[in-house]
Amino acid sequence: MLFLQGDMMKVAVLISGRGSNLKSILEAEKKNLLGEAEVAAIISDNPLAHGLKYAKEYKKQSVIIDFSKFKSKNDFEQKLISVLENAQIELIVLAGFMRILSPAFIDLFRNKIINIHPSLLPSFPGLNAQKQAFDFGVKISGCTVHFVTEEIDAGPIILQKAIEIENDDTEESISSKILSWEHILLPQAIKLFSEKKMILRNNKVKVV
Ligand code: GRF
Repeated sequence: MLFLQGDMMKVAVLISGRGSNLKSILEAEKKNLLGEAEVAAIISDNPLAHGLKYAKEYKKQSVIIDFSKFKSKNDFEQKLISVLENAQIELIVLAGFMRILSPAFIDLFRNKIINIHPSLLPSFPGLNAQKQAFDFGVKISGCTVHFVTEEIDAGPIILQKAIEIENDDTEESISSKILSWEHILLPQAIKLFSEKKMILRNNKVKVV
């Protein structure tokens, strides 16, 4: 089916740093693999985010909302909300966005914010999930795309991919194996969301 620009679901991608997940989303869009979604906003809270270069590379506008320039988190979020609302964003994708969003923000965009996390949640939430998995000595880890709720890394799980951890794996090799699956899973989740192929009920997501 052919979709005109106006029919597309507008997605905002929020980043803070490296931006490799942003790149994978932009690449998927270029290859028409994002379903009915279009990347309508790229937002960074960090003016030095390396990922901003991908916006240029893929000829997209980016918006810098420099966290350090705001008096409070609330002021920062008000600005973020106005950018998202002006762009009529329907899905917010946290792709290495290093800020914890307030309950009020999450409530405003309830079930419209997704995040990628480098572990098989609910194992190893929070920072340095790959190191946590390596240090614990688990034999399987992976990545998770989930809806964002007030509790960190605890929202309904949309997609997961497991990877095996071998004897000679290091924290770096685990991270890189996981990352290559992140780059597949996150665009897939955006596509499914845009095609309304997710049913969220009782804190569980059914992909149909
Ligand atoms: C990824 O490992 C993601 O799972 C986590 O932050 C990292 C971001 O990487 N939330 P990048 O900026 O997309 O390269």
